[in-house]
Amino acid sequence: NKGKYEHYMQKEIHEQPESLTTTMRGRLIRGGSCKAKSVLLGGIKDHLKTIRRSRRIVFIGCGTSYNAALASRPILEELCGIPVTMEIASDLLDRLGPIYREDTVVFVSQSGETADTLLALEYALENGALCVGITNTVGSAIARNTHCGVHINAGCEIGVASTKAYTSQIVVMVMLALAIGDDTISNQTRRESIIDGLFELPSKVREVLKLDQEMKDLAKELMSEQSLLVFGRGYNYATALEGALKVKEVALMHSEGILAGEMKHGPLALVDENLPIVVIATHDACFSKQQSVIQQLHARKGRLIVMCSKGEASLVCPGGSCRVIEVPQVVDCIQPVVNIVPLQGHFLKTSGDLRKKIKHSDESESRECGR
Ligand code: UD1
Ligand code: F6R
Repeated sequence: NKGKYEHYMQKEIHEQPESLTTTMRGRLIRGGSCKAKSVLLGGIKDHLKTIRRSRRIVFIGCGTSYNAALASRPILEELCGIPVTMEIASDLLDRLGPIYREDTVVFVSQSGETADTLLALEYALENGALCVGITNTVGSAIARNTHCGVHINAGCEIGVASTKAYTSQIVVMVMLALAIGDDTISNQTRRESIIDGLFELPSKVREVLKLDQEMKDLAKELMSEQSLLVFGRGYNYATALEGALKVKEVALMHSEGILAGEMKHGPLALVDENLPIVVIATHDACFSKQQSVIQQLHARKGRLIVMCSKGEASLVCPGGSCRVIEVPQVVDCIQPVVNIVPLQGHFLKTSGDLRKKIKHSDESESRECGR
């Protein structure tokens, strides 16, 4: 039932404060006078020792699920100190890339049934790795065939373009990083501040959803363009890739997510006063580097739309020289959850073609339900 929404995708975007709450339910421990704040993931608690001993963590997924893993990679590296590598399922299979017994391989999939991800799981099992699933669908092939895992519990996702599963996947992988890194005392303060951030995340997502009208207006302006670039880095490199993927899928428009650190190694050649460019520049350790990217884009007269933390418009856009999207700030590693929301579905309303596509998907391509 779509309720007051025109499409399942819209409904699922607006459901995110609730789906994130369900994802975290029973898994965050508030702590107390003598007990530290912590995370309990029932599905992997008996495997944590093995995971901590592994030589490498390999994330495998496709599309949006791959992007969610990419968003979580930095915090996993930071809290666990284990090298993390990224694999798009089909590419790993094309190369038959090395997977070892000492690896922990994490399979990320909303449906739990994606063919390439399943083939990669078979391949990793043959190679003797510990296989962990992160899926929305209880009883799916990935949930059944992995050694252990975590259900994201985001509720059924029906829209073909993944939205609430993406944000719940990131939250589960941040919780995974907290659980694996739980044996390191030196990270305790950092871990507790992330847990505090997770508690307040649903209300921050509710707040960012209020940008609805502003984003619709922007989308209307951009709909007639040929292309849209999205620059991000660090925690928000994934936001750039996922934002561009949503624009492609939903607006049927060319869009490219670009690692901001690579800008001067080619992409700068594309910049002129016509091509719209979204720059993700919320406040984190990469902020000053993003400020200098914005200056360079400015120098090329780039048509900029900058996403920044609330109250920081003047830091990213001196003299009001560009368009700004101000979003609530949260702890750096979960900022991608907030930042993706304005890019998820606003190009939808103005596209007749998409309406057809979404309608078709609602009727005949519905994905299987999570719970
Ligand atoms: C489980 C129950 C939940 C209950 C909670 C109470 C299920 C599905 N979940 O949640 O209803 O409220 O205990 O403590 O019954 N798994 C995989 N691969 C995957 C995903 C999961 O092997 O890709 C396995 C896990 O290792 C675990 C089981 O499936 O053995 C359930 O996982 P999950 O639902 O995440 O566990 P809990 O959160 O403990
Ligand atoms: C994009 C999208 C796809 C899926 C991909 C993997 O909006 O939905 O890119 O993310 O097909 O699907 P799952 O997560 O079910 O393995």
